Amino acid sequence: MKVLVTGGAGYIGSVVVEQLIKHGHEAVVYDNLSKGHAAAVAPEAAFIRADLMNRDALVRALDQRKIEAVIHMAASSLVGESVQNPHLYFNNNVGAGLALLDAMLTVGVKKIVFSSTAAVYGSPETMPITEDAPQNPTNPYGESKLAFERMLRWYDAAYQLRYASLRYFNAAGASERFGEDHHPETHLIPNVLRVAATGSGHVDIFGENYNTPDGTCVRDYIHVIDLADAHALALNVLEKRSEIFNLGYGSGYSVAEVVEMARQVTKRWISTEAAPRRAGDPPVLIASPDKIMRDLGWNPRHSELDQIIESAWRWSLAHPNGYGE
Ligand code: UFG
Repeated sequence: MKVLVTGGAGYIGSVVVEQLIKHGHEAVVYDNLSKGHAAAVAPEAAFIRADLMNRDALVRALDQRKIEAVIHMAASSLVGESVQNPHLYFNNNVGAGLALLDAMLTVGVKKIVFSSTAAVYGSPETMPITEDAPQNPTNPYGESKLAFERMLRWYDAAYQLRYASLRYFNAAGASERFGEDHHPETHLIPNVLRVAATGSGHVDIFGENYNTPDGTCVRDYIHVIDLADAHALALNVLEKRSEIFNLGYGSGYSVAEVVEMARQVTKRWISTEAAPRRAGDPPVLIASPDKIMRDLGWNPRHSELDQIIESAWRWSLAHPNGYGE
């Protein structure tokens, strides 16, 4: 299939493009490089540097490249920033998303895989989280992603636009070629590995008195390659229907466990310091992956935490300055 990947120069997007090509698809990356990196676009993919709000460029890309489906990953995705600046999140995640849907309909492209998030659930009581759990986002980031999911439902009903919404839990790790390079970096694993690599500074542990086994927050870390594979599978479902899937492994690790595993993998000491809770952090987020395994035959191959950290460590050693831009 010919697939347009918005945000294909970002961390997850770069690996999704790589996996799509491995699955025999053709990928066209559409990215304004506001966060992504040109060096993160696989050379086997075509690359258009443009903004989703540039309607002419978008319609031209969809039309001239004979696009059959879109994977929509371009987004703002920092919870803390979204609380400070909701306008940015509704503008980029809902406004630009609407522009994309309308361009797709103009050209007659009616298949979309959407990067959604566990943040649509808020702080659920029941673990693991199934797709029908209540959706109560606790920040504008989750709210903006849920708003777009809801738009998709109505576009399906009215215009037969088929969608697969993938609710990511905590993407982590790297492929051989592509890894995580954010500015600023807020995610746990790259921050832990930076301390290991530089031998200086410390990792802030945001909250040690949560109601969890060791007091630190628990997350379901999913290897970015397994996450990317699910996108290729999700394209198949769009022929027939629209679906929502969680993407996680169903197992959780605490912040303290991640730090300890990183010490073992890197064989380096990693200093930590207790820090206040980060606003909006749910204590525990663990996916039920049953639906995607059953319906799409998703079969994750990299689910061990040490493998995930090891892959990120290898990438960070090979790219001490990230993509160096
Ligand atoms: N953490 C620390 N120290 C750090 C960084 C993170 O203690 O330096 C903690 C956080 O407080 C949290 C856990 O490590 O408890 C994981 O934090 P991340 O920032 O790595 O990931 P989040 O769970 O906050 O966020 C991820 C995605 C979001 C998405 C969310 C869904 O990055 O886009 O999962 O729950 F919304």
